[in-house]
Amino acid sequence: MYEEKLEALQVIMDRKSVRDFIERDVEEEKRKKIYQAILAAPTTENMMMYSVISVNDPETRAKLSKQPAIRKAPMVLVFCADYRRWNIIFEGMTESGRNPQEGEYQLAVVDTVVAAQNAVLAAEALGLSSVYLGDIMEHYEDRAAALGCPVGVVPVVTLCIGYATEAQLNRPYTKRLGQRYLIHDERYQDFSREELLRMLQERGQYESLEQMQPWLEKFSKRCVEGKGALERVRSIRTALRAMDPQD
Ligand SMILES: Cc1cc2nc3c(=O)[nH]c(=O)nc-3n(C[C@H](O)[C@H](O)[C@H](O)COP(=O)(O)O)c2cc1C
Repeated sequence: MYEEKLEALQVIMDRKSVRDFIERDVEEEKRKKIYQAILAAPTTENMMMYSVISVNDPETRAKLSKQPAIRKAPMVLVFCADYRRWNIIFEGMTESGRNPQEGEYQLAVVDTVVAAQNAVLAAEALGLSSVYLGDIMEHYEDRAAALGCPVGVVPVVTLCIGYATEAQLNRPYTKRLGQRYLIHDERYQDFSREELLRMLQERGQYESLEQMQPWLEKFSKRCVEGKGALERVRSIRTALRAMDPQD
């Protein structure tokens, strides 16, 4: 009872994203364990509103991302939010027959990422490494077509898994934002822009605010009006409209 499993914490703290892999396949036994870990994740109402597609075909992979990790990883899993399964099951059973909308999508996405993170930690525990690729959220129509996803099944994140190269294993950890800005006590604490800039600077990549400025200018443009950011918005709107054509 109340047994501490501190190795699990070690796995969490040891993990870092790995974007380059050696040429070694992921053993079948390890693949099975990763799948079991995915299915063991907590899930809304035990509905498991996700589907995971294992993609090996290089041509399909090339349609999902241009990032090198997807070519190099021996194991690529695409995690899709999946409300389709329950939509079919519920058919004809409700008075309104309402189509899935943002709320259903949100639940399914939460289920999906919770399950994906179980795969990340299982891989790490098995001596493997991984990286998420978020560009699967762009170009919904093309990516859904490449994966054969029908309406209601929306790719959310790609996970590339494999054995890390030595260089990647030795890569320093990515610095985090300070705990006091992220973990709040009882009530949300709002911070001024000045404090938030200080928070960024405290992360330690830049000596001064002036030094940080050029990076921040580029980064803000990328996040707000970059091609990827705008395409992601278009993509998800398209996916949601397909789920509820009357909307
Ligand atoms: C939803 C999500 C999408 C991500 N997309 C990408 C990506 O497209 N390419 C990439 O190289 N890393 C991607 N990452 C990895 C992050 O860049 C990485 O987790 C972050 O920089 C922190 O570094 P660490 O994981 O090594 O601690 C993604 C991570 C998440 C959670």
